[in-house]
Amino acid sequence: MIPQFLKARRAALIGLTFALGAGCALTAYAQNAPAPAAAGGANAARAAVGVRKAIFTLIGSNFRPLGALLKDGGPYDAADVNKRITRVLFLSGLLNEAFPDISNVGEPDSKAKPEIWTNRADFEKKLKEFQDNLVVLSDVNAREKGYTESVKVALGAVAQNCKSCHDDYKLK
Ligand code: HEC
Repeated sequence: MIPQFLKARRAALIGLTFALGAGCALTAYAQNAPAPAAAGGANAARAAVGVRKAIFTLIGSNFRPLGALLKDGGPYDAADVNKRITRVLFLSGLLNEAFPDISNVGEPDSKAKPEIWTNRADFEKKLKEFQDNLVVLSDVNAREKGYTESVKVALGAVAQNCKSCHDDYKLK
C-alpha cells in the first residue's frame, strides 16, 4: 500500500516533469521553426523571385514570334498570333502580385532594380500601360484579322512597353 502522501507527491512530480518537457519542446520548436514568409524568410524570397522569372520567361517565349513579326513583317498566322497575344495578356495580369517587398533581393538572384520598390507608383503606371496596350492589341487584332497597319502600331506600342520598363527597372 503506498501511503496517501507519497501518491500525491508522485502526481505532483509527474505533473512538473510534463510541464518542463512541454516547455522545452516548445522552446526547441520556436528555435527551429522557419521564419514566417511575411517576416521575409529566405525561402519565401527565393520562391517569389522564381515565380516572377517564370512569368517573364513565358511572356518572353510567347512574345518572341510577335517581336519577329514586328521586325520583319514575316508571315502572319492569325490563329498563332491570336493565341500568343491572349497568353501574354493573361500572363501580364500575374505581374501585379509578382513584386512583393521580400522579392527585392538584387543580383545575382534577380535583375529587378531596387527602384521598383522606391518608385512604386511609376513602376505600377508602366505595368498598367503594358496591360492596357495588350488589351488594345488583342481588340485590334481580333477586328483586323490580318497584319494591317493598326495591328503593327498596337504591337509596336507593346514592344515599346517591354523596352521602356526594362530600361528603367531591369538590370542589364
Ligand atoms: C513593368 C515592367 C516590365 C514590363 C512591361 C516588361 N518587363 Fe520583362 N522584366 C522586368 C523586370 C523587372 C525583370 C527582371 C525580373 C527578375 O530578374 O527578378 C524582367 C525580366 C524579363 C525577362 C528575363 C526573365 C528571367 O528569367 O530572367 C524576360 C525574357 C522579359 N522580362 C521579357 C519581357 C517581354 C518580352 C516584355 C514585353 C512583352 C516584358 N518583359 C515587359 C520588367 C518588365
